[in-house]
Amino acid sequence: MSNVELTDVKTLRQRARQNVEDGAVTKGYSADREEILRLLNESLATEWVCVLRYKRHYFMAEGIKANVAAEEFLEHANQEMAHADKLAERIVQLGGEPDFNPDNLSKNSHAQYVAGKNLKEMVLEDLVAERIAIDSYREIIQYIGESDPTTRRIFEDILAQEEEHADDMADLLKGL
Ligand SMILES: [Fe+2]
Repeated sequence: MSNVELTDVKTLRQRARQNVEDGAVTKGYSADREEILRLLNESLATEWVCVLRYKRHYFMAEGIKANVAAEEFLEHANQEMAHADKLAERIVQLGGEPDFNPDNLSKNSHAQYVAGKNLKEMVLEDLVAERIAIDSYREIIQYIGESDPTTRRIFEDILAQEEEHADDMADLLKGL
């Protein structure tokens, strides 16, 4: 048992009626909401830059009939878009606004958009981008700690998939 003090039901019920316009954000929310929103939007940008890079790589690999790589690129593009959607949904739940402005995406993204001249370069750049995402999400998870379990779980789920992506790219790279 931890030494967390539980709030009595009466207080919980009273509190829930105050500031109802804040939606899912209650008085017990202990995270720095502005900072969490900033991290969520930077991650949203990271995911979108990855979607666009994987899309480019998918179509280029299709062109050179690199079928196995092309399939992986497409699958990753779709999964990164699903990550972006989860992040956007959480931003709105926390009372923020998801920033989809294309002018801001590459500025706010942690990972880079590298077109890649050939298949090997594409796979290498995708691996690098995944490794950047992995490190940044791991840090965000540590930063959030116990302050916002829902946002943390979202990042944990995304992190697990980014690790799979990195593994896929590392495997592909070995065969090139
Ligand atoms: Fe990924």
